[in-house]
Amino acid sequence: QSRNLFNYNIFLIGFMGAGKSTISDYLKNALAMDVVEMDQCIVERQGMSISDIFETYGEEYFRELETNLLIEMQSQSNVVVSCGGGVPMRERNVTEMKKNGRVVLLTAKPQTILDRVKDNHDRPLLENNKNVDFIGDLMEKRRPKYEAAADIIIETDGKTELEICEELIHRL
Ligand code: S3P
Repeated sequence: QSRNLFNYNIFLIGFMGAGKSTISDYLKNALAMDVVEMDQCIVERQGMSISDIFETYGEEYFRELETNLLIEMQSQSNVVVSCGGGVPMRERNVTEMKKNGRVVLLTAKPQTILDRVKDNHDRPLLENNKNVDFIGDLMEKRRPKYEAAADIIIETDGKTELEICEELIHRL
């Protein structure tokens, strides 16, 4: 049974490994909120891993699936949406999120990101690029769009999950 705390959705954005899934999971357990994990939802619906979708249909196809999922979220509220890292790069996605949501950007240093993603093999953009320089460069390229999309920015380095969630709730 989920509780109706917010009459809008909370969209967690940020780089791969910034902690979107971890924090949405925490909110799900602590506040009994519904969570939509975008990557996971797409994987379930397509019956394929993210890597296989990229390989078989290409990145643009995956990006369309993301946009369609965000459009679906229009009819819901009080949901924590853990977005894929590339979501804020499309203007259309940002427009869709802003219609009924607060956008929360989670940030972390490249080294922190690397530590968190190094053992995962379903992130095609990082698969052959698991190093601080690549991550730092891509992060800098994305930063302007991430920051422009965000209503709230939370730095996660050195903070516990509880601290991050408290800060988030406090600032909503
Ligand atoms: C991507 C991030 C991934 C996933 C896909 C592309 C990106 O999600 O959507 O591999 O472009 O940053 P996570 O941020 O959950 O890893």
